[in-house]
Amino acid sequence: MLKISLMDQSDLENAYKIEKEVNPTPWSKNNFFSSFEVGHNSLICKDNKNLIGFAIFSLVKKESHLLNIAVTKSWHRKGAGSLLMDTVIKQSKVLGAKKIFLEVRSKNLDAISFYKKYKFLQDAIRVNYYGGDNPDDAVLMSLDI
Ligand SMILES: CC(C)(COP(=O)(O)OP(=O)(O)OC[C@H]1O[C@@H](n2cnc3c(N)ncnc32)[C@H](O)[C@@H]1OP(=O)(O)O)[C@@H](O)C(=O)NCCC(=O)NCCS
Repeated sequence: MLKISLMDQSDLENAYKIEKEVNPTPWSKNNFFSSFEVGHNSLICKDNKNLIGFAIFSLVKKESHLLNIAVTKSWHRKGAGSLLMDTVIKQSKVLGAKKIFLEVRSKNLDAISFYKKYKFLQDAIRVNYYGGDNPDDAVLMSLDI
């Protein structure tokens, strides 16, 4: 049975393994660990004792920013991402947010489909926002909650 809980320091290594597995341009280990240390809201999804996904968001006044969400490949399309997103939405509301913002690579069609299922709207495109080896535009999306 899938269960959502707060990320603990001891979950960081396994969460970062998922980040490297499914994100073609993963956060650096340093960024990933610092995000936890600065106190971003970090959730995990477990199947019994196995960590299979995580979501990280940050609250700024009435805005919630979804910074990262990922599920290990073998669990895709089995509802874990939705369970995480449902919890991000609920927690953001409890913390006083009225809107959730995110940005996603325009080539990440799977994630865009996932966000559209939640009725996130496309607000803008930042052309060539992502540089490096895998250049891409950023799609800015938001959801009223
Ligand atoms: C985005 C992600 C977290 C979704 O997790 P998930 O557990 O597979 O999502 P769910 O099973 O809850 O899917 C919910 C719905 O989202 C949509 N969806 C999810 N993955 C999809 C895909 N690959 N193609 C099309 N639609 C998809 C579907 O509507 C799906 O419902 P359905 O399966 O009943 O059709 C997962 O694909 C992932 O980890 N991707 C890699 C990391 C990433 O890109 N994160 C976003 C960075 S901005």
